[in-house]
Amino acid sequence: MTTCSAPGKVYLFGEHAVVYGEPAVPCAIERRARVTAEPREDGRVRVEAPDLSLDGFTVTWDDSADERPDLDVPTPLVEAGMGYVNEAVAQARDAADAPEVGFDITVESTIPLGAGLGSSAAVTVAGIDAGTRSLGVELSTEEIADRAYRAEYEVQDGQASRADTFCSAMGGAVRVEGEDRRTIDAPPLPFVIGYDGGAGDTGELVAGVRALREEYGFAADTIGAIGDVVRRGTEVLRGSEPNGGADEELLAELGRLMDFDHGLLAALGVSSRSLDAMVWAARDADAYGAKLTGAGGGGCIVALDDTEATETALDYTPGCETAFRAELATEGVRVEGA
Ligand code: MEV
Repeated sequence: MTTCSAPGKVYLFGEHAVVYGEPAVPCAIERRARVTAEPREDGRVRVEAPDLSLDGFTVTWDDSADERPDLDVPTPLVEAGMGYVNEAVAQARDAADAPEVGFDITVESTIPLGAGLGSSAAVTVAGIDAGTRSLGVELSTEEIADRAYRAEYEVQDGQASRADTFCSAMGGAVRVEGEDRRTIDAPPLPFVIGYDGGAGDTGELVAGVRALREEYGFAADTIGAIGDVVRRGTEVLRGSEPNGGADEELLAELGRLMDFDHGLLAALGVSSRSLDAMVWAARDADAYGAKLTGAGGGGCIVALDDTEATETALDYTPGCETAFRAELATEGVRVEGA
């Protein structure tokens, strides 16, 4: 039996613009999915996922069977959860050259599902690592990231970007630009996350930005301006001491850039009333800066604040379902127990 965990992520800068080849900086956060894998000889896959819904459920299925379990949780969530675990199992079987092996799998996660915090990437990354290790095979982190991307690609019908799976596997801050992906130095960043309990439709939001970009030159310029913000942010991070504290000046500059990025994303139509309300609550609480994270339309904001003030303010903000602190996760996928 092997347990591995992998972190979720927020975008410090650059979502949406990254679709057009601009750079982006996703950061891993200390909210993890833990996956335990135990090989079984009968070839079946049994998954226990107490955190995949509020009530928890246990589901046993055969990955060749069509039937879906009768459960009191939203079907798309169950199917998505099953899809990611299924694809992680397929990748583990392939990597370990054990096409017939079955597994008992347990998924536990402290990353809200469907909130744009990379929960599916974290489950997939941790699942591939746990599955292969339980069969005595140790993959490099790059290979886990690559296989997790291929798994997400299958489940999401080719709509996956490599950012989430790479960031979850590697940990820390990551810079993604086209095909270039690398980890970059970053000091400890005091992230506070506000979640409105909803989620935007990523496909629709990306299509909306694309339509604006095609119609208006200034929308294309806005996307370019987001790229400029990210380039400036990367320079700021480059000047930081990776293992030293994050000084106030550095956090203030990153915060200003996050505020700028949020304004540009709002101009592109991907913010929402609840996201704006949470961003303003964070700013009123003297956070260094705040922005939506991910596709937008609903979901999460991320703020930088090393005091309790933003979390408290978000707790009292209408439309904010939950707020929590999540430090930068310096470690990506890791073994929790064998
Ligand atoms: C969604 O988390 C991030 C987007 O930039 C889409 C993508 O990069 O695939 C909006």
